[in-house]
Amino acid sequence: MRKKLYIKTFGCQMNVYDSGRMADILTPLGYEAVEAPDNADMVILNTCHIREKATEKVFSDLGRLRAHKARRERDGKTTLIAVAGCVAQAEGEEIRSRAPYVDMVFGPQTYHRLPEMIAQATRASDGSGRGVLDVEFPVEPKFDSLPAVTTPSGPSVFLTIQEGCDKFCHFCCVPYTRGAEFSRPVKDIETEARQLVAKGAKEITLLGQNVNAYHGQGIDSESEWGLGRLLGYLAKVEGLERLRYTTSHPRDVDEELIAAHRDEAKVMPFIHLPVQSGSDQILKAMNRKHTVQEYVDIIERFRKTRPEIAFSSDFIVGYPGENDQDFEDTLKLIESVNFAQAYSFKYSRRPGTPAAALDYQVPEDVKSERLKRLQQLVQQQQLTFNRSLIGTQQAILIEKPGRQDGQWIGRSPYMQSVHFHGGADLQGQFVDVNIIAAGQNSLAGDLVG
Ligand code: SAH
Ligand code: SF4
Ligand code: F3S
Repeated sequence: MRKKLYIKTFGCQMNVYDSGRMADILTPLGYEAVEAPDNADMVILNTCHIREKATEKVFSDLGRLRAHKARRERDGKTTLIAVAGCVAQAEGEEIRSRAPYVDMVFGPQTYHRLPEMIAQATRASDGSGRGVLDVEFPVEPKFDSLPAVTTPSGPSVFLTIQEGCDKFCHFCCVPYTRGAEFSRPVKDIETEARQLVAKGAKEITLLGQNVNAYHGQGIDSESEWGLGRLLGYLAKVEGLERLRYTTSHPRDVDEELIAAHRDEAKVMPFIHLPVQSGSDQILKAMNRKHTVQEYVDIIERFRKTRPEIAFSSDFIVGYPGENDQDFEDTLKLIESVNFAQAYSFKYSRRPGTPAAALDYQVPEDVKSERLKRLQQLVQQQQLTFNRSLIGTQQAILIEKPGRQDGQWIGRSPYMQSVHFHGGADLQGQFVDVNIIAAGQNSLAGDLVG
């Protein structure tokens, strides 16, 4: 009988990708991924360290897992508990001391060594060995040791092309948890893209903490390619219909990337381009290395190239030293750009980052108030954008059946969730839908034809 593997994924899409790859590694060892932790023989928490709350969740989950393990032990069954991802990388030692029942702790760059770790931890659970802590940044990149993609996925999938970050924004833990920036060779990416398409993928989102800092070895082996060139190359993969990429940094937007949005119809007109703040003073303090005007100029260059491009962004409110005027400037920037969507967060002190040490932190109630105002504005813009599509026809990639009988849910080129009614099994197909209604988070329409 196959052993049950439950992976709980926190954080960003790169963790979603990593969880899939862990399942790929564990399949040949007799594990089968399941949707719920009940009766799982192995549980992996793939964790996120980006904000304090994300980290707290891990420790509360661990408490429940301890009980799960004890219950199974009473029935004579063993359970392996693993903590992977960015909390493991940042707080590996602490997890080991606070939760000694955890069998394996490993960071985002070592999960290709899972088979050896399991062997070691299994010896440990019968008393002959020790639990595992593997949070090195290995010299050999994990991608060279990963198996082919085998775990099932839908029509829209992720593919990590770049990892790590060398930018060191003063609020951010990612350079410490993911390590230095690294790009996969184009050939490897192409191979994986073809595997995904053979399994039914129609849309691939290329991932990286700094995806447009991509500079992987080109197909001719000599030169390095940027993201724009890679997109053009992948657009030639037959059966692959849509390409997206996330997350981009304004500093790394170049002409080639902008041109890809003009030249390749498969590159979707929706870009996630975090700006964090609309105040030059705060951007400087954050070490973002660009100004508000430079950001606005980039948006204009994209829009000039392909006018229908829509943007989303990330914002942090209450960064140390952010005053009322800085915040008003952020609202002003949002007004001037008009986002289709945005994520926003209260600044969270991350241990070991430069901003955490500053003694002029913004009070919690001020952060909450600012967040509320910012989110109101962004939601208004999102609704306006959604409504602007009423009366248009959109190509929808169908992801799954809806709750109602005969209903389907798919995604527009702008990533909006679109509901409509249709016939037979349409999962994974592209259809044209006339948009007839728009809400805050989704659209509704009629199937064309
Ligand atoms: N590489 C991406 C972002 C990765 S983290 C970039 O450069 O934009 C995702 C988002 O989390 C960030 O854009 C930021 O808005 C938010 N974030 C990161 N650290 C944070 C912190 N300490 N407190 C609050 N939000 C944070
Ligand atoms: Fe974090 Fe900045 Fe790197 Fe993005 S660019 S991952 S925000 S350090
Ligand atoms: Fe979180 Fe690590 Fe991603 S900190 S946002 S899981 S890179």
